[in-house]
Amino acid sequence: MSYNLLKGKRGIIFGALNDMSIAWKVAERVVEEGAIITLSNTPIAVRMGTTDELAKKLNATLIPADATSVKDLENVFATSMEALGGKIDFVLHSIGMSPNVRKKRSYDDLDYDLLNTTLDVSAISFHKVLQVAKKMDAINEYGSVVALSYLAAQRTVAGYSDMADAKATLESIARSFGYIYGRDKKVRVNTISQSPTVTTAGSGVKDLDGLLDYSERMSPLGNATALDCADYCVMMFSDLTRKVTMQNLLHDGGFSSMTMSADVMYQYCKELNQ
Ligand SMILES: NC(=O)c1ccc[n+]([C@@H]2O[C@H](COP(=O)([O-])OP(=O)(O)OC[C@H]3O[C@@H](n4cnc5c(N)ncnc54)[C@H](O)[C@@H]3O)[C@@H](O)[C@H]2O)c1
Repeated sequence: MSYNLLKGKRGIIFGALNDMSIAWKVAERVVEEGAIITLSNTPIAVRMGTTDELAKKLNATLIPADATSVKDLENVFATSMEALGGKIDFVLHSIGMSPNVRKKRSYDDLDYDLLNTTLDVSAISFHKVLQVAKKMDAINEYGSVVALSYLAAQRTVAGYSDMADAKATLESIARSFGYIYGRDKKVRVNTISQSPTVTTAGSGVKDLDGLLDYSERMSPLGNATALDCADYCVMMFSDLTRKVTMQNLLHDGGFSSMTMSADVMYQYCKELNQ
């Protein structure tokens, strides 16, 4: 259902790789709500992925960019303002990757060059997006920038490894830059901390099936899906949240406030009594 919440708004969506990507659902939902957008992903993802299909479907310009490159990001903002006919109202940073996790390096055996890549791609790129946008004065007043995070930023999740450090940094950047961007330009900066979700990046998490089942049973509302996350992003990009900034917004069906649910206790006791 569309509420026309983003009518007339211009947005940039980073990170739609395939139709499982959270960014893919966000792109579809924001266009449904009346926005016009550009899409960006790495040159290799653009060549190998299906982002082009989405761009055609949504009538969006697709701009290849490595989000760790300031030059590429400057091009994303310049091309987007030209293609969309003005300054930007919202940006989604939906970018994450850990080569340590990919190579199954455990947290007590990290490769530090790979750790630098994890942090650069998954966290510092958010600072780069914000700094480039601010220096180019590319975002309208009360514009909204959102990055996607995960609860492992605050609480340890076995196997999440160095991505936890990246998410903690990401959330800190939202606060630190959110202060300056709000003060100087009235631009909002937030992170949404999403439930575990089946996607290409999500599948890199150790024992994802177990994690999904556990958090589903623990959460009174169940896991938030990628589409649920897209709905939340629509609200965060809309004028209905003009005074929300510097927040880490938990979007997890209630999981983060739970310690034990009846369903998880039942499963645990079943196993114990076997
Ligand atoms: N899936 C989950 O369980 C989950 C939960 C909470 C938060 N998140 C976060 O949501 C975001 C999106 O992930 P997803 O689950 O939709 O997976 P995804 O694999 O579909 O998206 C990750 C994206 O990051 C892009 N990317 C990687 N390196 C890049 C670079 N150098 N420059 C630009 N883009 C780059 C990839 O091409 C891909 O499009 C990530 O930040 C992820 O950590 C995911």
